[in-house]
Amino acid sequence: MKDLPPESSSIWHQDESLECVSVIPEMPNTATFTFRAPSGALFDFRPGQFLTLELPVPGGAVHRTYTISSSPSRPRSISITVKAQKGSIGTRWMLDHLTPGTRLRVMGPAGLFTHTTVAAEKYLFISAGSGITPLMSMTTWMFDLGTEPDIVFVSCARRPSEIIFRQRLEHMASRVPGLDLHWVVEAPDRYAPWTGYRGQINQLMLGLMAPDYLEREVFCCGPDPFMQAVREALQGLGFDMDHYHQENFQAPVAVPADAPPIDDVVPDEDIRAEVTFALSGVTAKVAETDTILAAAKANGLNIPSGCTFGVCGTCKVRKTSGDVHMVHNGGISDEDITDGYILACCSNPIGPVTVEV
Ligand code: FES
Repeated sequence: MKDLPPESSSIWHQDESLECVSVIPEMPNTATFTFRAPSGALFDFRPGQFLTLELPVPGGAVHRTYTISSSPSRPRSISITVKAQKGSIGTRWMLDHLTPGTRLRVMGPAGLFTHTTVAAEKYLFISAGSGITPLMSMTTWMFDLGTEPDIVFVSCARRPSEIIFRQRLEHMASRVPGLDLHWVVEAPDRYAPWTGYRGQINQLMLGLMAPDYLEREVFCCGPDPFMQAVREALQGLGFDMDHYHQENFQAPVAVPADAPPIDDVVPDEDIRAEVTFALSGVTAKVAETDTILAAAKANGLNIPSGCTFGVCGTCKVRKTSGDVHMVHNGGISDEDITDGYILACCSNPIGPVTVEV
């Protein structure tokens, strides 16, 4: 085959740009983009994690975070499935301009929303719209393991024709008995009879779809109001919310993902610190409560950033000396921390600090 990538057993690192190799339209304004590493490196990630893409939109690059929709059990390529909302800039650019052969800077993978760190026998996956993508990755992973999963999979959409991955999920469900699919739509498509659930997901539906929901580990992904409705429904049913997990790109999760490098120091706004940006030859006097990212911006330096709350990993820089107080939300791996990297958006300098910027 002409287009086979070079054989490689090395693991892809974000220093290497990725090449788009296919674009599959899923439905209007929604497409799956698949990437490969030109070196042939393999992708190692946990199902449910995300990537941050640097998108060269007119007017300057923007960074956008997308959950991976493919599974690490198929490590030669990696896919994201994106849906352009009204007014979207980055995703719109992807749908209109990103074609096979284009290379992009991509950061990650990162994120804590994964079933692989939770020991559970039974799962209840609940999604709305493009929130289905991390759950698709988790389901494909379990399917590819060859063992029989026990998943009740609920996907909500406006109409049946807007259920992303419906055929792929139905194919998997036809091969393993432990994948139980349920669709909930607001309204049927015109001229297409619909016998599934209609309306907004509620307690009654949850009880019918998964009578043993109290025994299941719940993973939920979708717009904030949707996840809030699911949380309230489960709480009302007496569900133990320690077994509830949700993906949330909008708001920081107030749970430190990892022990900060100095866990007994709390940044104090009255204490001064000093950040040296070694490659730029700039030294800034700041308060401990200022982030490295804010210090860079205030001094005219650009550290690429995306989420600004420690999720996407875009602002990762290497610290060559000094200490920081970093509380992130999964945007950096333990290996990177060991190698001296920090996330500039959520790292506060404690005393003199030097970074490679
Ligand atoms: S900008 Fe997203 S982790 Fe810092």
